[in-house]
Amino acid sequence: MGTDKLWGGRFSGDTDATVEAFTASEHFDRRLAQYDIAGSRAHALMLQSCGIISEADGQAIIDGLDTITQEISAGRFQWSAALEDVHMNIEARLTELVGEPGKKLHTARSRNDQVATDLRLFTRDAIDQLQADLTALQRALVELAEGEAESIMPGMTHMQTAQPVTCGHHLLAWNAMLDRDWQRLADCRRRVNISPLGVAALAGTGFPVDRNMTAAALGFDGVSGNSLDAVSDRDFAIEFCAAVALLMVHLSRMAEELVLWASQHLGFVDLGDAFCTGSSIMPQKKNPDVAELVRGRSGRAVGNLASLLVLMKGQPLAYNRDNQEDKQPLFDSFDNAHACLVVLAAMVPNMTFDRQRMREAAGRGHATATDLADYLVRRGLAFRDAHEAVGKAVQFAESVQRELDALSLDELRGVCELIDKDVFEVLTLEGAVHSRNHVGGTSPDQVRQAVAEARQALADR
Ligand code: ARG
Repeated sequence: MGTDKLWGGRFSGDTDATVEAFTASEHFDRRLAQYDIAGSRAHALMLQSCGIISEADGQAIIDGLDTITQEISAGRFQWSAALEDVHMNIEARLTELVGEPGKKLHTARSRNDQVATDLRLFTRDAIDQLQADLTALQRALVELAEGEAESIMPGMTHMQTAQPVTCGHHLLAWNAMLDRDWQRLADCRRRVNISPLGVAALAGTGFPVDRNMTAAALGFDGVSGNSLDAVSDRDFAIEFCAAVALLMVHLSRMAEELVLWASQHLGFVDLGDAFCTGSSIMPQKKNPDVAELVRGRSGRAVGNLASLLVLMKGQPLAYNRDNQEDKQPLFDSFDNAHACLVVLAAMVPNMTFDRQRMREAAGRGHATATDLADYLVRRGLAFRDAHEAVGKAVQFAESVQRELDALSLDELRGVCELIDKDVFEVLTLEGAVHSRNHVGGTSPDQVRQAVAEARQALADR
């Protein structure tokens, strides 16, 4: 007694139930159904146009695929683990619906080029979606940055107050990271959007296929140049997951800062009631859970990348079943990043900054010490000597428990007699940020300029 599998011809007896359950992927790869059908449609039309199947067969296949599309979208399609994967579920149903012509669809095709095609189509859509999500979040950040062009906050290195910066400048730093993430996805898309369809199992096919025709029908930019590579290559998926991992690392860094800024100890930002959650025991709590979850979920993106890299590492050419395991990490990287970007884009416009608190925080920690050193340099001192002199001034200020700008002129002159009363302009936070007025600097003018440029760049996408 032979098995009833689509590949069952050379087998006698049934597949062991544990094997059937273990090898099935339809419960997750059914997500590729729309791409699988699009690929089958393009393949059928090509077979017909190249005279490999008849017009009537081609038409029957197209009609059957239409019915299947409706069944799937209506939730009426009967998925079966016994049919292994999305490809064979759809093919079996097609034959059930249209009979003989359904059995001809797989002419000049293998599941190997089929699944590679499906995955590339999925990844292309995923890229387009994430790019749109990124644009929405970037727009929100740029808006916010414009409103905070003048707000002063402590800029930190080593989590210690370093120099005052404008909050708008800080927000635009996040935008700059996300901008590169968008570019990386755009670059990745060029390599994703290549058609493997038509190379069949691994070596090509003896039928006179027209690979350019299927590629054009599916919106691919070209066809892959080597059949062995076409069915086995998953570096497009790895690249996508790498771009997403880096994007998620960026979101995690932003989230970390939001958590810090929202804490009572800094109190720089209110994330909005609608974007915080409470505690089941502590009535006063308003927790930044969204930011924390974004930070936490970045781990999955890094993990998915690692999974795919290791999945690929030991594989000889050409296709191996290992590759069935590429889907869940790929899907998860997309879903996760999409969810994080959407929630952040909704949260950002709801954020309000406490400008007073940010300014007060910037006023602690002698944030304008570098400006004092620069002042001394302009008065003729070598920078290293100026650094030393200001270091002494800070030491003195700490010993009397005051800020640098709260020292008297005499006290400052005690450290260096080149100091004059105009020093106090230099020691103000406003003076410090306004003076950094060059491309890439933190001054309000530069922030406004950068906002205008960022806005234009987003509009030009
Ligand atoms: N479900 C398989 C996968 O995801 C489809 C390709 C199977 N090909 C094969 N020759 N077994 O990779």
